[in-house]
Amino acid sequence: MYTPQQKKQFYNQSKQWLNTSATEADYDALVDNLKFHEWAYYVGNASVIGDEEYDLLFKQLEQIESIVVPRHDSPSQRVSNDLKGDSQTVEHLVPMLSLGNSYNAEDLQDFHKQVIKNAFLEDGVGIEYTAEPKYDGGSVALVYENDLLVRGATRGNGSKGEEMTANAKAMSSVPLKAMFSEYGIYKAELRGESIISKADFDVINADRLANDEVLFANPRNAATGGLRTKDANETKKRRIQTFIFQLGYAIDKNGNDLLPSLKTHYNTLELLAKLGFKTPGEGARLCNTIEEAIEFCAEWEAKRDTYGYEIDGMVVKVNSFDLQETIGYTQHHPKWAIAYKFKAKQSTSKLIGVEYQIGKIGSVTPVAKLDPVQLAGVTVSSVSLHNEDFITSRDLRIGDTVVVERAGDVIPYIVKALEDLRDGSEQPITFPQYCPSNIEDNIGLVRLEGESAWRCPDCSCGEQILQRMIFHVSKDAMDIDGFGKSYVEKFYEMGWLRDLADIYDLPYDQIQELEGFGERSVMKLKKAIEKAKQNPIHRLLHSLTIHHLGKKGGKLFAEEVGHVMDFRTWTIEDFEGIKDIGPVLARNMVDWFADERNIALLERMEDLGVNLTQLEADKPIQVSADAPLVGKTILFTGTLQTMGRKEAQQLAAKAGAKNISAISSKLDILVAGEKAGSKLKKAEALGTVQILTEEAFVALVKP
Ligand code: IVH
Repeated sequence: MYTPQQKKQFYNQSKQWLNTSATEADYDALVDNLKFHEWAYYVGNASVIGDEEYDLLFKQLEQIESIVVPRHDSPSQRVSNDLKGDSQTVEHLVPMLSLGNSYNAEDLQDFHKQVIKNAFLEDGVGIEYTAEPKYDGGSVALVYENDLLVRGATRGNGSKGEEMTANAKAMSSVPLKAMFSEYGIYKAELRGESIISKADFDVINADRLANDEVLFANPRNAATGGLRTKDANETKKRRIQTFIFQLGYAIDKNGNDLLPSLKTHYNTLELLAKLGFKTPGEGARLCNTIEEAIEFCAEWEAKRDTYGYEIDGMVVKVNSFDLQETIGYTQHHPKWAIAYKFKAKQSTSKLIGVEYQIGKIGSVTPVAKLDPVQLAGVTVSSVSLHNEDFITSRDLRIGDTVVVERAGDVIPYIVKALEDLRDGSEQPITFPQYCPSNIEDNIGLVRLEGESAWRCPDCSCGEQILQRMIFHVSKDAMDIDGFGKSYVEKFYEMGWLRDLADIYDLPYDQIQELEGFGERSVMKLKKAIEKAKQNPIHRLLHSLTIHHLGKKGGKLFAEEVGHVMDFRTWTIEDFEGIKDIGPVLARNMVDWFADERNIALLERMEDLGVNLTQLEADKPIQVSADAPLVGKTILFTGTLQTMGRKEAQQLAAKAGAKNISAISSKLDILVAGEKAGSKLKKAEALGTVQILTEEAFVALVKP
């Protein structure tokens, strides 16, 4: 239907309009552009721009169409349509409308003003809203007659949908019988969204992988496909669940409309839950003001990634049915409801180049440079490509259009390249063979068996030293307050930092002369460095950047020796004799302490006053056999009121418990602080975990 060249042109044109809006003169091109994106999304099954970007272009279209007469084939001229014409269509009892969109608090305030105006009110006092998740699946309508499920249909074009009763019956969250008659309701039409949970989706795709079947792109595609399949067993297999969020039609035996008697949307949701339907439940909130609704939307946006289902926004609805009727509808959507769309997590951009970063142990990490793109409210222009295998497995090329994702706290990453958009000008990414930090020396990179990274074997290469120092002073390592990356870079540039010991031998009088450094800041720096010299040796060990030696390893080793230099006589077997220490780290430790350069470094550090002797904080915690939590595993979740998480973990350790990080059948005790979320739910579901409040925990461990 579209050639790669055309696709590329549409892509470039869209990105241009996202920078500088389309004008009236662009109208025809904009219509064609949006028609292409509709095709790519619904038919081609491969969008080349993000959902939010599409919505923004659609907004531009609507704006221009307020001046020019809409073309009859403009995407604005139809309500979306999932009819494909290969199954029986049925007419909905009441048309299923769409929703208008909003993207921020201001848009929701504008919506509120429109509600006041359309309700002929003076002000917004007393207008209640319900806010609830906008589930990202496929829309369905269910008809119940005489308490029995008699029909299921997809949304279709809004007036008519595809009949799928057998599939609806295959969904275990849809009651086959619901006692509407107890409320006088003879016939009802319910609306909802069919959706697959993230956990079920992972299981389904894992199964498909095992059976060599094509994987589903996302839970939504798997759900909408499962609604329309001819094989209801397949619907069942996909574990589709349906959230009901609207009662669109309800009459008694005499044909009287019963909706007005239900009064409010929130009431109706409660009634539906009582009848056995899966509703937004706790996910919905009755809000007394629009501000409350805005806050609730923000709360959900912040936690969307921890929720078990994909949601792409919230829906804010006027609560009172009376008010809804007064406010009314457009052809396309109710004027009493609006979708609040979350900021898109996925979008597309151009991969314009690759840079290579050298880490503290010489690992070379490729980093993709992208045309800047907005993701979940942040501009992203460079993304780690991790290692060579990541690039080859995705066949990424310079010049490619790539799909980029940033979900929650997850670091942005490249999902895939859009091969359809290639025009032959793309260049392969060639991983360097020599250390990119000093090209003249031609130091060949090495890749050890079983490792994914290429490394520069020369530990004195400039970039590596710099990265090691940045790590050494960081919070996780020696924690030198105020000594950040920019200081390290500056002092390195000045020639004052050649190795780690130089950090403790800085020319303070010269630093004071540097621009931006006063007497006070130098004093502060000196104080922080002096303090760090007294750190326990577990911190120092971790700060030496020995390959594979992390925080935990530092602690385990620090427990074993009176002085760091004692390790010079240790053998691989000695190191391996420590619980949880494997052969690779044991070998690295022996090698490190056998290198005279490293010993000279430690000696110089000690001369400069850095502590190398075991301190009290390095010694293992002594637990008496009758301590209250001996042999138990424990985990803290939520916010604690009387202490920090670390302090609580130490208390638990002193009481004999082992702190673990995940909920599993191995967990004995969960201490749930305020706002405990998914971990608490999981532990409750397990049924074998003892759940304690903070107070109960303190009572237990403090005699
Ligand atoms: S209310 C007349 N509530 O979003 C109002 N819709 O873009 C109709 N959706 O077709 C919609 N979650 O499939 C409503 N809590 C929710 C929803 C929701 C998902 C879907 C629904 C609708 C589409 C509109």
